[in-house]
Amino acid sequence: MSGAADTNNAKQYGDSRKLAARARLNQEYTITETPWFEWVAGQLPFKANSSVLDIGCGPGWFWATIAGALPQGIDLTLADLSPGMVKEATERCQALPFASVRGVETNATELPFADKSFDLVIAMHMLYHVRDQEKAIAEMHRVLKPGGTLAVTTNGMGDTKALYELSTAFGGTPYNIVATYFGYDHAEEKLRARFGNVTMAEHPARMRITDPEDVFLALTSYPPGDAAGEPELALFRTRIDEAFAAGGGVLETQKQSGLFVSKKT
Ligand SMILES: C[S@@+](CC[C@H](N)C(=O)[O-])C[C@H]1O[C@@H](n2cnc3c(N)ncnc32)[C@H](O)[C@@H]1O
Repeated sequence: MSGAADTNNAKQYGDSRKLAARARLNQEYTITETPWFEWVAGQLPFKANSSVLDIGCGPGWFWATIAGALPQGIDLTLADLSPGMVKEATERCQALPFASVRGVETNATELPFADKSFDLVIAMHMLYHVRDQEKAIAEMHRVLKPGGTLAVTTNGMGDTKALYELSTAFGGTPYNIVATYFGYDHAEEKLRARFGNVTMAEHPARMRITDPEDVFLALTSYPPGDAAGEPELALFRTRIDEAFAAGGGVLETQKQSGLFVSKKT
């Protein structure tokens, strides 16, 4: 499939509240040796006195989590289509030990930055929202300095399958639909096409959920669950209860989150 995941960006990402319902599920119930943000940061070539662009930065939670472990002197640019996200991320990061922090409202397909401006460009879990992904990746390539690094993250088709299967109660797909717009294969193919190289690593993690209500809240925080009617929601609750009963009071499911890294030669 081509295209982009539901792009009512203002509704979904006007601020971080809807994203927080999903993040809470991930934070509370993920079983892993190294949490996601720390795991990603541990694989990126952060350097002292370098310039970093985070495109589709969201609320800036990544930086709040990892700032203490970063080298000194980083100039951080936080860019997002959503003004609310830019504001929140910028306020959050200004309190952190960066050399400078600036926020920029922009579309990933038209970055308002000069060629060869950044040592590192990061685009985490956002390219599936972009219609012209080739153009966005070309822009990321353009603004990178030679020798610079692009880091992209996304989900695989098998991500938290047990949860998506429950969402069919309200018309959801039985898999993480974002992976049909920009999944592992797209990331590999499109980054390689532009950069000529790409490496991939998958975060080793699974979920073990103990509270059925948290499943309900997370999956009804975004389309199509956020528009489901009462009968569908009742069916959804029944399916959740059945799944927890079948698992002896817990719901277990594998996660699939991947990090794709390309170097600009
Ligand atoms: C799932 S959130 C990811 C946030 C953050 N990168 C993270 O991993 O926690 C997707 C973000 O991409 C932004 N976004 C969507 N389409 C965009 C576009 N075309 N250009 C820039 N940002 C976009 C949304 O506003 C949202 O903040």
